[in-house]
Amino acid sequence: MRIDVLTLFPESVQCFCNYSIVPRAQQRGLVEIVCTDIRQYSQDKHRKVDDKPFGGGPGMIMMCQPLFDAVAAVQSQDDRPATKILLTPQGRKLTQQMVRQLALEPRLLLIAGHYEGFDERIRTGLEPLEISIGDYVLSGGETAAAVLIDAIVRLLPGALGDEESVTEESFSDGLLEYPQYTRPRVFRGMEVPEVLVNGNHGKIAAWQDNWAQRRTAERRPDLLEENNHKEKEENR
Ligand code: 6GU
Repeated sequence: MRIDVLTLFPESVQCFCNYSIVPRAQQRGLVEIVCTDIRQYSQDKHRKVDDKPFGGGPGMIMMCQPLFDAVAAVQSQDDRPATKILLTPQGRKLTQQMVRQLALEPRLLLIAGHYEGFDERIRTGLEPLEISIGDYVLSGGETAAAVLIDAIVRLLPGALGDEESVTEESFSDGLLEYPQYTRPRVFRGMEVPEVLVNGNHGKIAAWQDNWAQRRTAERRPDLLEENNHKEKEENR
């Protein structure tokens, strides 16, 4: 898979991509991440990439020209057509299901904007998917791009070690994690639940399942609703 990132701050995205899972996946040839500076494609003599909104209003708007040219240039660097994604709080809210779909694509082109927003013709002219990472405001799409890259890359076959990949399974069942413990068995008077150290694997599994259900019901009842809904659809 190839992931291009168009941004005004290529170093910030690149920096993130130098840690943990992403560089490992790159070394293993599972993904290639290419960050490109949008400003490099500005035809303005001052390398302008943004301007004031027509009709007035606060903030600056990302201009069409640098972005359209950057998209065309980056697209032509590789034969595979890229699925374009605009990172914006106006986009569809990212879910693990969307991440799983995106992880199947041969090539993604992420567009991270700064400033107040994008000229609307970037939407109508490039027809990107629009993705938001949640209901809060970030000052730029770069951190959102980093979130998306992390979520996708860890799903690429071979990116995680065997032990780590179990984790994905347990969130994929739509429940939160059950409580977990490691040594010592007693820390400052706080004990590890007896069932976990007794070696009865049936009982341990039942305890874990019970806690996953209970945690999810307490903290994220919306996830249980979603699960029920999905099961009903599957049975239809
Ligand atoms: Cl993708 N961009 C910005 N600027 N803010 C956000 C976001 C994206 N997702 C949530 N908030």
